[in-house]
Amino acid sequence: VIEQVKAREIFDSRGNPTVEVDVILSDGIRGRAAVPSGASTGEKEAVELRDGGERLQGKGVATAVKNVTTEINAALRGADPFNQAHVDQIMIDLDGTPNKARLGANAILGVSMATACAAALETHQPLYRYLGGEDLELPQTFHNVINGGEHADNGIGMQEFLITAVERTSFRDGFEKIANTYHTLKKVIEDAGFTTGLGDEGGFAPDLNSSEEALKMLREAIVKAGYEPGKEIAIAFDAAASYFYNDQTKNYDLEGTTYTPDELSDYYGKLLDEFPEIISVEDPYDENDWENFEKFTQKYGDRVQIITDDNICTNPKLIRQAIKDGMANAILVKLNQIGTVTETLEAMRLARKNGYNTMMSHRSGETEDTFLADFTVATNAGQLKSGAPARSERVAKYNQLLRIEEELGQDGTRLAKFPNEVDAD
Ligand code: PGA
Ligand code: ZN
Repeated sequence: VIEQVKAREIFDSRGNPTVEVDVILSDGIRGRAAVPSGASTGEKEAVELRDGGERLQGKGVATAVKNVTTEINAALRGADPFNQAHVDQIMIDLDGTPNKARLGANAILGVSMATACAAALETHQPLYRYLGGEDLELPQTFHNVINGGEHADNGIGMQEFLITAVERTSFRDGFEKIANTYHTLKKVIEDAGFTTGLGDEGGFAPDLNSSEEALKMLREAIVKAGYEPGKEIAIAFDAAASYFYNDQTKNYDLEGTTYTPDELSDYYGKLLDEFPEIISVEDPYDENDWENFEKFTQKYGDRVQIITDDNICTNPKLIRQAIKDGMANAILVKLNQIGTVTETLEAMRLARKNGYNTMMSHRSGETEDTFLADFTVATNAGQLKSGAPARSERVAKYNQLLRIEEELGQDGTRLAKFPNEVDAD
């Protein structure tokens, strides 16, 4: 049983405080997990509790830590770590708000993840096996290699430009191709006279003036690295359009041009024509602009994967609505948007049952914790985005996938297909 739940304030990849939790079982086994943090957060995300005030620019998490060591610790003492749903429900009830605002989603998620880690250790299984059982596959990974929007200080309005290895014989093979492309991209950027400093997710952040320039550079890097764009290495982007939406005018102000929603759709269409190697588009419209998001999916949903992130925030209720409305054909999954392992699993089941692809995601603020890699394999999520093949908090996840592949590879690795084979029932 759970004997004690401890927590502490540690620091994430941006130097901001975050919560780390230890769940200690009665036989001394200790599960540990750390919580990530976003920058382009959706309005409907569960609440990340920050202290406010002077200390650490108001971003301290001492209150969340205290909530773990006092209330949550008292409520979970004696609970069964193998009953994840029960542990999570105890915390949801204890919190008592619809968005985990009282105890903090950062407090609750830390405990939820650390509980799974402790239970896995207790059974002497790796986390991916404990959570996932048999018949597991390695995901197709998407790597943010040019950062813009809220993740970088440059003139690129869209947030993420990602590359993914479509053709690969193993996860390692795909990752090597990505690493080669990444290093070639650095040269391409240097040769064009731009700096090669990195953004929050390990991608380059050259001071380009447009998303189109970023896409051109990506294609050049793929070709120069010796790969066929679209066939071997494909491209994806996350527009994170909430961050260039103009609330007053209901238009989109992107890179010096104002677009009506229809004009923006045409602009995206132009990019898809010009760059047929684009296979996935995330958040093309504002998080509350469901109508134009849906229109976009009607128009382009057969051509590319369309991911909804900020509109649904890994929330089963919102996902149900999005499915009913035909908003997208894939969801982004972030554990800390909803705040427990159990609710995240429910969100994923719901999406896949309805033919939606699932892409697991890191946050722009990350730690060295590799829970995400195990969770992606355990759930057969199919896809994962966890940043560039650089910066240790990003690479930690990929290195863990390399280890998992080594373990699973003994019976031949199963690789996720794109688009995913979704559940039949
Ligand atoms: P975030 O960005 O972690 O800053 O929210 C990731 C995303 O928008 O997909
Ligand atoms: Zn996003």
